Amino acid sequence: MVLRELLAYVRPHRKILLVGGLLGLVGSAAGLAMPLLAKYVVDAFGQTGSMAAPLLGLTVAVLVGAVVSAGGSYLMERTGEGIVLGARRSLVDRMLRLKVADVDRLKPGDLLSRVTGDTTLLRAVLTNGIVDSVSSAFMLVGAIVLMATMDGVLLLVTLLVVVVIGGMVALIMPRIQRAQTQAQEAVGEMGAVLDRALQAYRTVKASGAEEREIAVVGDAAVRARDRGLQVAGWTSLAGVATWMAVQIAFLAVLGVGGARVASGTLEVSSLIAFLLYLFYLVPPIGQLVQGGVQLQQGLAAMKRIKEIEDLPAEPVGVAERREERPFGVRFADVVFRYGDDRPVVHDGVSFEVSPGGLTALVGPSGAGKSTVFALLERFYDHQSGSIAIDGRDIRDWPLGELRAALGYVEQDAPVLAGTLRENLLFAARDATEEELHRALARTRLDDLVARLPDGLDTPVGHRGVLLSGGERQRVAIARTLLRKPRLLLLDEATSQLDAVNELRLREVIAEVARETTVLVIAHRLSTVTNADRIVVMEGGGVRAVGTHDELVGADELYRELAATQFLVG
Ligand SMILES: Nc1ncnc2c1ncn2[C@@H]1O[C@H](COP(=O)(O)OP(=O)(O)OP(=O)(O)O)[C@@H](O)[C@H]1O
Ligand SMILES: [Mg+2]
Repeated sequence: MVLRELLAYVRPHRKILLVGGLLGLVGSAAGLAMPLLAKYVVDAFGQTGSMAAPLLGLTVAVLVGAVVSAGGSYLMERTGEGIVLGARRSLVDRMLRLKVADVDRLKPGDLLSRVTGDTTLLRAVLTNGIVDSVSSAFMLVGAIVLMATMDGVLLLVTLLVVVVIGGMVALIMPRIQRAQTQAQEAVGEMGAVLDRALQAYRTVKASGAEEREIAVVGDAAVRARDRGLQVAGWTSLAGVATWMAVQIAFLAVLGVGGARVASGTLEVSSLIAFLLYLFYLVPPIGQLVQGGVQLQQGLAAMKRIKEIEDLPAEPVGVAERREERPFGVRFADVVFRYGDDRPVVHDGVSFEVSPGGLTALVGPSGAGKSTVFALLERFYDHQSGSIAIDGRDIRDWPLGELRAALGYVEQDAPVLAGTLRENLLFAARDATEEELHRALARTRLDDLVARLPDGLDTPVGHRGVLLSGGERQRVAIARTLLRKPRLLLLDEATSQLDAVNELRLREVIAEVARETTVLVIAHRLSTVTNADRIVVMEGGGVRAVGTHDELVGADELYRELAATQFLVG
């Protein structure tokens, strides 16, 4: 069953693989003919006949064998690269379409190792593994048939030995598979812990945790090595077993064959050819064993790739936005928890936002404000109640269309590696140069751009580390404004700005709120006193809605928040 899935990767390449395999077989056949030709040459010594023909045949066989084998192995490698490409494409395709909830559980470093490491292992098993095994089996059978034509008794001796090896290898194979699966898991684990340290690089340094993190990654590397050694151990044991067996067969054949030559029942040339064939058995048997090992690797890799490919994908397509008017939002009795074993975050959240204007969500940390945005973007599905955007339940919106209508600036405003321009155009591929400059001016990034060595084409570093925190936030806002959303979601989007820039941004947001609906989450109430309505959230619900002045009068929590921020006397 798993094997069939494995072969599914091969199917698109089966023609080239077949040609490559055939070339390999021809090459093997040429190799197989060698001892026979050698026998003719030896026979020619004894007779007076010409040596030229057998020698010429031998030379041609060598040449043809070499060229054909090389061509075959090139085609194999080509197919291998094609298979890896296909596996990587489909894996990455799935990875970027997963549901946010699934990605929350996965470790990025481990995911990376599946795309880079495990797909590479597939190549080995699907090309060399399969083809070498087939051609080895052919060689094996061919050699045995030819040996049978030479001497039945010697063949029997040989076969006995081959059967013994087969039994031993069959015992070793499952152990190799177990060790191999663990080895690949260990590599993924190492990727995950290394990723953890790299993602929090400055924190690691600031915490003086370098040595501990080095040790953690080192331990994972040691585990990977140990598992690798186990695989190597069992593999060499299988190798030694086959080698020993052939040596024993050689001695046995030499003994039995020598006696038969002495008694005149066997020609010397036949014994020589038989012994040569015996040594011809060594590589194919070795390759069969190797093929078995590679198959175990491939199956383990396959399992790890399938784990990701079997996760559900989101049905997102590129969507054109049709409406140009602001959208309203309605939460009605929404109940949501992040997982079955997680506490309830929204316990009957209800509020309504009419189209246009500025609405603020405030409340203590952990009240579920960011979760409101995550639900609107459908990163997660709420368990009950209903959420509507523009009067339409979000479950009825095509996902791509829904997200195309929204603009979202996350709480920790990520900037992607690349240039400033790439970041700005990330959410709006077709923005014009003029729109770009307007967005820069609005977010007061134009000074920064003027200062940068390459202006808009300056790289910003991994996660935007070359920018300041406030600059990153403004890049994130500019990027989202360029998207011209019908509903703009800003999560603490100006928390890292200085007072002057923040005031300017507030004006811009107020301006944007005239043409589109804006939802902001803010801890600093000073930034939202001018909002058209403020939704106060606490303990999984909405406790009050109103303007600043209304709430100061009517809501105790709000009054408290405002008082501690010197907004009321
Ligand atoms: N991806 C997640 N998986 C599981 N639980 C989560 C996840 N994100 C948030 N939570 C939990 O949900 C609760 C609400 O989180 P949320 O981010 O909505 O709070 P918030 O109101 O935005 O807080 P803050 O003001 O600190 O940003 C928190 O208790 C948090 O632990
Ligand atoms: Mg939050």
